[in-house]
Amino acid sequence: MARHVIAPVDELPPGTRKFLEIEGRPIAVFNIKGEYFGLMNRCPHQGAALCEGPLIGLAQSKDPGEIEYTKLGEIIRCPWHGWEFDIRTGQSYCDPRRFRVKAYAAHVEPGASVVKGPYVAETVTVKVESDYVVVEL
Ligand code: FES
Repeated sequence: MARHVIAPVDELPPGTRKFLEIEGRPIAVFNIKGEYFGLMNRCPHQGAALCEGPLIGLAQSKDPGEIEYTKLGEIIRCPWHGWEFDIRTGQSYCDPRRFRVKAYAAHVEPGASVVKGPYVAETVTVKVESDYVVVEL
């Protein structure tokens, strides 16, 4: 499993996402309230660029007339037909048993660790005094 350095932490503030291609795969990395998540940027329904869709929440109901809105900003809605996926896990809310988007672990590493390796930093210049977002593939 390779660890890819994708950006300095400052370039990916909360609520933003970064698109990139790693090992030939289209991927987006999200910062959700300070936590980082990688997701394949291809919808399992008909192949849309899923991660270009809007970030929404999850509406659930235990009883008629009662709607609870949770996971605000943690669900992505496909821009083509509206299927919804959990960014943390890739789980589909349309058909959880059949459809899932590949999710990738992402986290922050200090520059000092990145410099020691083993990391792939093809497009990012690494400085020891900075922190970096890393995705595992
Ligand atoms: S391609 Fe994503 S919902 Fe159809």
